[in-house]
Amino acid sequence: MTNTSQSLFERGMKVLVEGVSSASRGPATFGGAPRYMSHGQGARLYDVDGREYVDWMMAFGALPLGHAHPKVVEVVTREVARGTHFATALEVEVEVAEMLVALLPHVDKVRFANTGTEAAMGAFRLARGHTGRRKIIKFEGHYHGWWDAVLVNTNPLPPTMFGHPNDPVRIPDSSGIPEEAWKDTIVVRWNDFGAIERAMRLHGGEAACVVTEGVMSNMGVIPPKPGYLKHIQDLCRKHGALFYLDETVTGFRLAAGGCAELYGLEPDIVTYGKALGAGCRWP
Ligand SMILES: Cc1ncc(COP(=O)(O)O)c(C=O)c1O
Repeated sequence: MTNTSQSLFERGMKVLVEGVSSASRGPATFGGAPRYMSHGQGARLYDVDGREYVDWMMAFGALPLGHAHPKVVEVVTREVARGTHFATALEVEVEVAEMLVALLPHVDKVRFANTGTEAAMGAFRLARGHTGRRKIIKFEGHYHGWWDAVLVNTNPLPPTMFGHPNDPVRIPDSSGIPEEAWKDTIVVRWNDFGAIERAMRLHGGEAACVVTEGVMSNMGVIPPKPGYLKHIQDLCRKHGALFYLDETVTGFRLAAGGCAELYGLEPDIVTYGKALGAGCRWP
C-alpha cells in the first residue's frame, strides 16, 4: 500500500461509508485500502504517489477508448463550456438516438438514462406496463443493477445453498430488501434449456419479461450455448412475455450491434451502458 493512499483511506473512513463510494472499490473488494488514483492516460493509471499501472479494469468495461482519449476530452470540454443542464431538449439527443437507430436494426426508439441500473428499472417498468403482467424471469449470477426486484441471486452461492436446479433458492444480495420487492421475481439456472422451458411452462403466461445478459459477464465470462438465447426469445414470443436483452456490458463491443447482432436476436427491449457513455462510436 502506498503512503498517500493509506492516509487518504484513513481520512475517507471518517466520512465515507466503508471509506469509499462503492463497495466494489473498498475493503469488501480489496481487503483494505484501495489505491487512490491521480489520473489516467490511454491504458495506464497513475496513483497519488506517482506509481504507474496498466489498467486491467478500464472502469469496469466503460472505457473501450482508454483514459482521456483526446477526441473525447475535446468534445466534453467544448460541450461543458456551453452549459450543462437546460431542463429542456437538445439537438444532440436526437442525433445520438438517430445514430443508435441506424446502427441497431432491433431498436426503433431510444430513452436515455444516467446509469445501467436506471435504464434497467425503466425497462422493467416498460415490460410490466406494456404486458399488464407482474412477474420477471431472471437468471442466476446475472446482474441488472442494484434495484431491489432484481438484486437477487447475483452472486455465486456455496453449493449447499443453491437449492434444486429446477427451483433455485432466491437470496437477495443485501439486507434491507424486503420480500415484497422480489416476490414476483423468478430465478432460473442459465444456459440450461430445460430449466427455462420449465420456468416458462409454469410462469410464462404471467411473465412481463425474461431478462438475460447476452454473454454472462458478472460471474466470470460465460458465453451462451449455441441457440440458447434464440430459444429464450422463441419461448418469450410463445408465452407473450417480452424478451429483454441487457447489453450494458456487451453492447458495442462483441459486435457493433452487441450480442443481438452476434447471435441474430431481435430483443423487444435492450439496454446499453458503459461503452455508450464513454464516447465509443462505430464504425
Ligand atoms: C449487465 C449489467 N446490467 C446493468 C448494470 C448496472 O449498470 P450501472 O452500474 O451503470 O448502474 C451492470 C453494471 O455492471 C451490468 O453489468
